[in-house]
Amino acid sequence: MRLKGRTAIITGAGSGIGRATTRLFAAEGASVVAADLSEAVHDTVAGLDKAIAVRMDAGSEPDVEALVATACERFGGLDIFYANAGISGGGDGIFDSSVELWTEVLRVNLIGPALAIKHAGPKIVERGGGAILCTASVAGLRSGAGGPAYSASKAGVINLVQTAAQQLSTSGVRVNAICPGLIETGMTQRAFDYAREAGKQDKLGQLNPLRRAGAPEEIARVALFLASDEASYVNGQSWVVDGGLSTSHPVTRQLFGKTSF
Ligand SMILES: NC(=O)c1ccc[n+]([C@@H]2O[C@H](COP(=O)([O-])OP(=O)(O)OC[C@H]3O[C@@H](n4cnc5c(N)ncnc54)[C@H](O)[C@@H]3O)[C@@H](O)[C@H]2O)c1
Repeated sequence: MRLKGRTAIITGAGSGIGRATTRLFAAEGASVVAADLSEAVHDTVAGLDKAIAVRMDAGSEPDVEALVATACERFGGLDIFYANAGISGGGDGIFDSSVELWTEVLRVNLIGPALAIKHAGPKIVERGGGAILCTASVAGLRSGAGGPAYSASKAGVINLVQTAAQQLSTSGVRVNAICPGLIETGMTQRAFDYAREAGKQDKLGQLNPLRRAGAPEEIARVALFLASDEASYVNGQSWVVDGGLSTSHPVTRQLFGKTSF
């Protein structure tokens, strides 16, 4: 019960990482406001005590303000905001990405977390401290894990948590991000389905030292730690949770003198 007595908002809670985190936070004793654009967020909270579902747009300022107000009214205050909602946006190339695509991806993926910090920060300060988390991505560290708008939006989140940690200095609110590698969720499901249908599922993890993709629960467990008091000295950081994928340049591995296991 590492979040007993805490109230948490989680966006993007209708699927994938947000859904897994909602369920884990609830199991650890938190009251959870699960938020998503999609109706599926109601399935996420089904059967959970002290969890409610809210349909909203994480990139809309009135919606984020209303979401924070709902959490405070319903549960008496706010301790944790996990700004996790995101979209890939498609568009693989700089030369075929429209202004509309850039605008929408930045609105949801980068302005959304900024709005979460803006509106949740003061409420968490009122409680004497707490945690804000954002989902960035390994795509924000270097190219090759998403389209240009997606990658730039996630690089922005990595910087945003640094600035926010500074600006919330002495408030008791810590701000951190998680950079997942390839995780099987709604966002990536097509690639997993395609690989399985083609009998090539092992290809998805072939460049990873762990030789597999990740599960949403593996990100949720890191979110739990960062949201809890156990992470009391972790602030302004972006933790990579990718099985080691981002630790190497693309070279042929040396595996204890063998070329492969
Ligand atoms: N899956 C991966 O491999 C991976 C890797 C790195 C980072 N991420 C990031 O993880 C986060 C969660 O994504 P996921 O992988 O669980 O994908 P997902 O598609 O399973 O879940 C994303 C959820 O966000 C919701 N959403 C989208 N736009 C929204 C908006 N404007 N307002 C509210 N909700 C909105 C969707 O309805 C969906 O339920 C995203 O920020 C994504 O960029 C995912």
